[in-house]
This record gives sequence, C-alpha cells and structure tokens, in this order.
Amino acid sequence: MKLTYQGHSCFIVEGKGQSVIIDPFLNGNPLAKITPKEVKVNAVLVTHGHGDHLGDAVEISKKNNAPVIGTFELVNYCLARGATGHAMHIGGGHDFQFGRVKLTIAHHGSSTDTAATGNPCGFLVTIDGKTVYHAGDTGLFSDMVLIGETNSIDCALVPIGDNFTMGVDDAVRAIGMLKPKIAVPMHYNTFDIIKQDPEAFRRGLAGKPVRVEVLKPGESLEL
Ligand code: NI
Ligand code: MN
Repeated sequence: MKLTYQGHSCFIVEGKGQSVIIDPFLNGNPLAKITPKEVKVNAVLVTHGHGDHLGDAVEISKKNNAPVIGTFELVNYCLARGATGHAMHIGGGHDFQFGRVKLTIAHHGSSTDTAATGNPCGFLVTIDGKTVYHAGDTGLFSDMVLIGETNSIDCALVPIGDNFTMGVDDAVRAIGMLKPKIAVPMHYNTFDIIKQDPEAFRRGLAGKPVRVEVLKPGESLEL
C-alpha cells in the first residue's frame, strides 16, 4: 500500500491497482501539490462537511465516476450535487472492490456553508492487507482504545493542529491508545491558526513502539 500526503488531511491511498482519496481539499489548500483534475481514483472518502475536508469531492466523484463514501447525510448532500455515492454510518463497514472501509466516531461538527451533514467520522481503510486509520477532525476520545484493540492498524493519521482538533499532546495520547505501527501527523500548518511543529509530535512519541513519519506535501510512504 502506498500513502501520498497532499497537505492538511488529504491522503491518496493506493494498492492492488486501485486508489482512494480521503478528504480531497485541493482547491484552496495552500499545501496541495495536485489539482482536482489530476486525481484518478476509484472512490472519494470524506470525513465531514467542512470545506477543508469535503473540498473537491463532488468534482472528483463526477470526473472519475467514483462514489463519495461517508455518512448518509453527507453522501446525500453530494448526490444532490451530481456526485455518485455510497452512504454508510458510524460503526458500519463495507467491502468495496478496492478494499474495506469502516466508519468510526469523531468528536467534531459536520456542516457545509449551507447544509447540516450529520455527524463527522473517521475511517479505517483496508487495502491489500494493510489498514490505515484516518481520524478525521476530532478531539481525543477514550474509545480509541477500542479501535486499537479491534484493529491491527498499520498506519494512523491523526490531527495535531490544535484549536479545531487534538493538539500535539492529545495526539501523542491517541497514538498510545491506537497502537499503530506508524503514526503520521496531519491537519497542521495549512493556516496560521493550526500552526504546529510536527517534530514535537515525534519527540512526544520517542521511546514508544511506533515509527513516526512526518510527510511533506506530495511525499509518499510505502506500507
Ligand atoms: Ni472540521
Ligand atoms: Mn478541518
């Protein structure tokens, strides 16, 4: 499996000749290295309706004939705007052609500028035998212990930006509960309000049984 970071909370996950994009905030994302037009994927996973996550999901869905995958309310919002979609909800998993997706809780809001789009979520994505956990936007929650116990997480993507989500200290605690093999920080340095030093996250996890990978936008990681 190959993970490519596009800044903020956007990742492209590839494996078995299939690929998905998570939280495709590209237009307006000062860190993104690609444009929506360049994205070729089999599915578009969206954690919640905020513009910095929903991003270009509808455009990418239409262009690739790739379903938007997310909560029922958010997928309905995208369907009404011409996307294709596959609605799910918290705690539910589904086997797609590219792999398995399961929705987890996230403690945050979820609305667009004009519509309420249900609850936010996180994703467990399993492709080619490897599992990635994308926490979405969330504060720290103790059910991360449960997520860690019931899944063998190869790579956990956790927000560290503070203000809207967990900051560094809570993200370090989150990794302790999730017990992934690799931890990758996200949702930081896109805007001044979420400015963080990812090396502080690395230092917080020093001596713990996890590898920290700080990805630059455009950079990839092989799992
Ligand atoms: Ni948000
Ligand atoms: Mn956000």
